[in-house]
Amino acid sequence: MAALGITVALLVWMVSLLLISLWKQILSSWNLPPGPFPLPIVGNFFNLDLKNVPKSLNKLAERFGPVFTLHLGFRRVVVLHGYKAVKEVLLKYKNEFSGRGEIPAFQEYANKGVIFNNSHTWRDVRRFSLSILRDYGMGKQGNEERIQREARFLVEELRKTQGQPFDPTFLIGCAPCNVIADILFNRRFDYNDKTVHRLMRLFNEDFYLLSTPWLQLYNNLSGYLRFLPGSHRKLLKNVSEIKQYTLEKAKEHLQSVDFSCPRDVTDCLLAEMEKEKHSKEPVYTMENVAVTLADMFFAGTETTSTTLRYGLLILMKYPEIEEKLHEEIDRVIGPSRVPAIKDRLEMPYMDAVVHEIQRFINLVPSNLPHEATRDTMFRGYRIPKGTVVIPTLDSLLYDSQEFPEPDKFKPEHFLNENGKFKYSDYFKPFSAGKRVCVGEGLARMELFLLLSAILQHFNLKSLVDPTAIDLTPMAVGFGSVPPHYKLCVIPRSGL
Ligand code: HEM
Repeated sequence: MAALGITVALLVWMVSLLLISLWKQILSSWNLPPGPFPLPIVGNFFNLDLKNVPKSLNKLAERFGPVFTLHLGFRRVVVLHGYKAVKEVLLKYKNEFSGRGEIPAFQEYANKGVIFNNSHTWRDVRRFSLSILRDYGMGKQGNEERIQREARFLVEELRKTQGQPFDPTFLIGCAPCNVIADILFNRRFDYNDKTVHRLMRLFNEDFYLLSTPWLQLYNNLSGYLRFLPGSHRKLLKNVSEIKQYTLEKAKEHLQSVDFSCPRDVTDCLLAEMEKEKHSKEPVYTMENVAVTLADMFFAGTETTSTTLRYGLLILMKYPEIEEKLHEEIDRVIGPSRVPAIKDRLEMPYMDAVVHEIQRFINLVPSNLPHEATRDTMFRGYRIPKGTVVIPTLDSLLYDSQEFPEPDKFKPEHFLNENGKFKYSDYFKPFSAGKRVCVGEGLARMELFLLLSAILQHFNLKSLVDPTAIDLTPMAVGFGSVPPHYKLCVIPRSGL
């Protein structure tokens, strides 16, 4: 009798809990933007093609409009689609939606550093990182000189391939990696250095894994999937190894730092740590310094390197575009002077090609997830604090009004009828607002200078007929990952 009583009490208790949780769910979902009906536990995963989530979001926007809701596992997600909605969220509601949605694959970095920080320390670390990046970007050993120096090393290394086929992933990737390594750690790596190859492999593998279907599931259902075997374990290990590297660098720096004369970003972060050493709640702990460095190292290498690699593949498919670039470089820069930023003003075609590469490859289609920092009324909907907010970037970059035939690679998207560079406010591959990419200026400078330097010295040669080159990404998720390929670079005759 007593056992029956306990069982009934337990049942009543569980049913009450279930009803309370359902009630809470209904209450918090009340007045959310429209969206497809969610199933229990999995929510709207059946509405998504995990091989191409950004494409599924575009399709859902056709059905539900520019602001819609999805339930992905435990997460309530509001998606913004199109110029007006995305800009409104990023610029008009810049504080309300400036949180960072959780990315469980980077749980070790959560609430530290800049990118994955959704805590009160983010504002401070971001502001400080921006100011030191700015300081190291200006002046005599500024970013332009830094990139120009690396461009010379890159050209030298490309010459060593002697016209033979090679995989550009690590060779080309080494240039942006060295530029950011110089800013962060006051060092550059030899192009054959084992450590830099290991680090770049980790960055590259992470970017790919993050874009696979399994990680789309994991990042939303990590509560269920955490203990299962799968590629998320590899990713978690890689992320940890990268942080281990930056932690070691920070410790090494600590041995020799002179706070009155910082050598690099690491020293500046350590100086902040030193200032706070008697504080009860310091922002700059060794952990936080290591994650801040890891953020900038990973984000500063993989993004620019992938853009360059994708860009070269595109140019091989369109030799007539490459030809026009050679012509412009020869006319403005000539054969031997190293390209400079001032050349951009006289090189509208190169400027347009670099923009079109970034638009077309759509590197981070769905942006990084944001989060509502407080309950917010947006276009008549109530978006509760903690809701993940996705201001999609591909919906701007592939807008067919702004960029007619968006699926085609056309530098003319950024040129006016007189052949001058044409600005577009829809060009937002770095996002906008409070979370806008910290490395935008650096990345744009690198893309222009490094691509100009490569084409100044070499013709690109594909191993297959240019018309047979397939530009379809090999994975689309967090990022758009270019297909693997090899190419030859042939020194330009007479130069
Ligand atoms: C082609 C190159 C790059 C692209 C397309 C790119 C794109 C992006 C995007 C879309 C975001 C998310 C913005 C948001 O949440 O709204 C971001 C954030 C970030 N990027 Fe970049 N990025 C590039 C290069 C770089 C470089 C060179 C650095 C090096 C310093 C960098 C550092 C960061 C950091 C630290 C954040 C986090 C900002 C925050 O959460 O407050 N990125 N980037």
